[in-house]
Amino acid sequence: MQGHLGGDFIPVATLADLDARGRAVVTLGGTRVALVRVEGRLHALDDTCPHRGGPLSEGDLEGHVLHCPLHAWPFDVRTGQCLRPGARVRIYEVRVEGEHILLSASASGSFPAR
Ligand code: FES
Repeated sequence: MQGHLGGDFIPVATLADLDARGRAVVTLGGTRVALVRVEGRLHALDDTCPHRGGPLSEGDLEGHVLHCPLHAWPFDVRTGQCLRPGARVRIYEVRVEGEHILLSASASGSFPAR
């Protein structure tokens, strides 16, 4: 879905697109972004692990820490920071308007993949 519902936020999915765990993978500007619900709040971060490309959306959660399914690198979904020094993924601001999930077009926490 394209178009703007407000500001620089872009609608990428609807609440109905979330799976039973409150997750979905969307594409924003050609980048795969994982939507992850934790304690009722949605977070968005790059889906591709900077280690070897594991799909973070398929990882296990421990509080706000999402563990990559391949080698278990732990990422805080609120900051994108990996608990291993030097690694990080991009995060995005999330807004929910009615049924629509919107992401900020300008990513924050940007960090080059390694
Ligand atoms: S690919 Fe994610 S920890 Fe290795």
